[in-house]
Amino acid sequence: MQKEQFSRIGYVLAVAGSAVGLGAIWKFPYVVGENGGSAFVMLYILICCLVAIPVFLAELSIGKLSESDSVNAFRKLAFKNKKFWGYVGGLTMVTAAVIASYYLVIIGWVFKYLTLSFTSLPKNIESSKDYFLEFLTKDSLGQFVFFALAFATCLLILSRGVKSGIEKISVWMMPALFLMLLFMLFYSCTMDGFIKAAQFLLVPDFSKITLASFFSALGLAFFTMSLGMAVIITYSASLSDDANLFRSTISVVGINILIAIIAGLVIFTFVFEFDAEPSQGVGLVFMSLPTLFANLGFTGNILAIMFFTALSFAALTSAISIIEPFVFFLIREFDISRAKSLAIVGGGIFALGILCIFANIEGVGDKYMVFGKDFFSFLDFTAEKILLPLGGIGGAIFAGYIIKKEALYTLFSPYMTDFMFDVWHILVRYVSPIFVLAIMINMLFFS
Ligand code: PHE
Repeated sequence: MQKEQFSRIGYVLAVAGSAVGLGAIWKFPYVVGENGGSAFVMLYILICCLVAIPVFLAELSIGKLSESDSVNAFRKLAFKNKKFWGYVGGLTMVTAAVIASYYLVIIGWVFKYLTLSFTSLPKNIESSKDYFLEFLTKDSLGQFVFFALAFATCLLILSRGVKSGIEKISVWMMPALFLMLLFMLFYSCTMDGFIKAAQFLLVPDFSKITLASFFSALGLAFFTMSLGMAVIITYSASLSDDANLFRSTISVVGINILIAIIAGLVIFTFVFEFDAEPSQGVGLVFMSLPTLFANLGFTGNILAIMFFTALSFAALTSAISIIEPFVFFLIREFDISRAKSLAIVGGGIFALGILCIFANIEGVGDKYMVFGKDFFSFLDFTAEKILLPLGGIGGAIFAGYIIKKEALYTLFSPYMTDFMFDVWHILVRYVSPIFVLAIMINMLFFS
């Protein structure tokens, strides 16, 4: 089979496109809000360096050394228990596809708010809340239409393959996203709320750090860096041979943190400008922000259009990255066409997505609860709190203990000093798996 590879910049932008998504722009601000602001941001950055970067490099090495899909990557590189490791790879890829189903439903909400931004936005928090809840719990058709639109867009991009689909879309969507956020940042600078937002996000207050914030930072770092989900393995399998592996990784992490902070500054400027509550959870983007924009009249509409377009771009590039691993696996394993593979994976995701939509619809969702949770929350909980950390630990243990150290050294030594390599190897063997296990136990039993 002909090798289809990303260009150097294409890889960085595609992986950054995967990383920067609803996590960075939607979750990051509200988790920061809930955890007291700036000190949490520093903690997040620290954890990115100590845990996320080592696991990222572990997954990159699995992808690059094997140049295979995530199942065969593990099988190929394991010298024994090949079958077991193949299942680990398979699990991460299935998790990714499952996450894709509800992720696309949320992108549907973003699309809905993008269209709303062209008309009149809800003027106060009460009506904004009602509007969102009405859409979420009653409008199954509306949600379906926007979900189907998000789904079709992703499939269209994926049908073109790595180079002319994923790379092409990432190299213009990512800079466009960045420019839009930058414009919004400049606009925010002119508002009084900006100073407060900057203080909130950037001046650390360590008294606000608790054990719970520590775990939230770990979970967030994993989710926002697309780890534990076969994504980095799959993309790295198509990484060109002349890429600087270490620099590419640092660029991706840097872009992700930068964008999350810019998005946070913009959102909190509006929050403080209009005296809204910074720690209000998931409603921040879908309930408060539209109202805050509505206060600015026509300019508010323009800003809202920009914000929801940026969020759509960020989320679409992430969604394609979670669908690709399964698609790539089927193509390689069964030697079928990309179109056929997309039809199979897409069919499953589409069905799950519809179940997720109806899970929130009043009078329907309670007919198929799983373990006391509605179907949407059940998928979200199982994928993010159980399967994703397990996949992360699997990758770290595999690179740390199963792949031969010499092979890793040969791969990384052109780009890292010996000291850096040793530090990474120790982190990936001892620190990352323990940290991730700790997040998992905490999320499962204490939150
Ligand atoms: N990193 C993406 C985000 O922040 C989500 C994602 C998770 C994408 C896992 C791929 C894999 O929204």
